[in-house]
Amino acid sequence: MPLKDRMLNDLWYKNAIVYCLSVGTFMDANGDGVGDFQGLLRRLDYLQGLGVTTIWLMPFQPSPGRDNGYDISDYYNVDPKYGTLGDFSEFTHACRERGLRVMIDLVVNHTSDQHPWFREARSDPDSQYRDWYVWSDKQPPNAKDGVVFPGVQKSTWTFDKQAKRWYFHRFYEFQPDLNTANPYVRAELLKIMGFWIQLGVSGFRMDAVPFVIATKGPKVREPVEQYDMLREFREFLQWRQGDAIILAEANVLPDTDLEYFGDEGERLQMMFNFQLNQNTFYALATGDTAPLKKALTATRPRPATAQWGVFLRNHDELDLGRLTPEQREAVFAAFAPEPDMQLYERGIRRRLAPMLAGDRRRLELAYSLMLTLPGTPVFRYGDEIGMGDDLRLPERECARTPMQWSTEPEGGFTKHAKPPCRVITGGAYGFERVNVASQRRDPNSFLNWMERMIRMRREVPEISWGDFDVLRTSRSDVLALRFDWRNNSVLCLHNFGAEACTVKFRSGCNEPGQNRLINLLSDEHSEEQDDGRHAVVLEPYGYRWYRVGGLDYLLRRSEI
Ligand code: NOJ
Repeated sequence: MPLKDRMLNDLWYKNAIVYCLSVGTFMDANGDGVGDFQGLLRRLDYLQGLGVTTIWLMPFQPSPGRDNGYDISDYYNVDPKYGTLGDFSEFTHACRERGLRVMIDLVVNHTSDQHPWFREARSDPDSQYRDWYVWSDKQPPNAKDGVVFPGVQKSTWTFDKQAKRWYFHRFYEFQPDLNTANPYVRAELLKIMGFWIQLGVSGFRMDAVPFVIATKGPKVREPVEQYDMLREFREFLQWRQGDAIILAEANVLPDTDLEYFGDEGERLQMMFNFQLNQNTFYALATGDTAPLKKALTATRPRPATAQWGVFLRNHDELDLGRLTPEQREAVFAAFAPEPDMQLYERGIRRRLAPMLAGDRRRLELAYSLMLTLPGTPVFRYGDEIGMGDDLRLPERECARTPMQWSTEPEGGFTKHAKPPCRVITGGAYGFERVNVASQRRDPNSFLNWMERMIRMRREVPEISWGDFDVLRTSRSDVLALRFDWRNNSVLCLHNFGAEACTVKFRSGCNEPGQNRLINLLSDEHSEEQDDGRHAVVLEPYGYRWYRVGGLDYLLRRSEI
């Protein structure tokens, strides 16, 4: 094996399976109605059994909790409702024992307005913290521009009575932006990373990266991203701990992807692929895979050490802002026809299972696809049992209800009779019908299907490591992807159509006798036909994962 390849094996995040959870809604051990680290500790064997390799914790630091913890008031502690720093280090230790990696959210675009830095900054003009935030003497002319939560957030500048000045906040008014142009702020940011690395984490999901690195201030009309900052973060992390990484939340256009990764991979190791996400939902809604294929091609260039984070739904709304208005309307019509299911004039606030009407075939299609798109799959807790949402809750809270463990009261999440965040009860998605314990006993459950799929995905490193091609097929509603790595190839088919179909395609390997497609999930393999093509019959929403027999594929790439 060439030396370079051997070293690449060290990049753990390339073949990881990430599972995102919030401590407060996962498992409550002390019965106070709020999930905690002790509860999470008791569920680590479950996560290990599911096959995930990395746990991403949403913010758990002290916070007034006005944006689900994304308004932090102390970066160096654990919110007492979740436990102590001691519990946290027990948790990272227990993860290490099981071979699980831990990532945490790094929310440094802004603090809570209750953070001592902001309190001091607003009350004392001579404080060193005054310049840690972004101020203006007058209301800037563009104060109403650039809101992230249209319909809820009114402006990006708010007058502070104490400071008698306006402060900038890209998000809600209780989240003042940090002035990342200030070198002391950046030094503190590194210190925060260093602190949590010391306590055993392997990386950070960095919140709102384009805004962290943008120029900010009353005179800034068009913010400009300071990409070099990313290199600074990356270098610091790697000096401290060689295998630590940053996964960026950056919903940006493909032509800036390499600015984030760095041409030589010298900036961030991972980014969520929002392009694939939005176009996947368009394909799921309409059966038209053309825009998804385009997004695949557009986001293909990346350095060998870089990796996409591939996801379906997360803790936020499904943001469809990058689709055309017609495409967005098509997704709304299919998955969120009621205004109450939509959010911020651009997205959908539902969980995936209700969006797909609980249709097992479509759920399997969606997750099979997520597991086989180029990148590292990122699950959200409850995905594995098909959890639903509670649309009576405001904004994004509807998709953040407690994990449903069993048929016990409150779904086994807590012994508290009335927890502040209620588990979903009754109906098709209530804990009585959708829970881990029942699905564990049923060999055909969604949970057991997911476990098998995750297991297989981990055994197919071609998807994580390899290069890919979008293959030409006879049908526009079928996506055929082929991954190649170290003379091995894997070919995946997904039928987005509601009808059964026969799809014809060439595998791309022309060596006689090496063109057999070996089904990885069942006994039904595919032989090449006389015309050199394969013809596979797919069920409505059917999918296949094959290993390809031939080896010379790289000599003959097929293009879409
Ligand atoms: C992105 C996070 O995903 C979202 O939940 C949060 O509201 C904003 N950043 C502000 O931190």
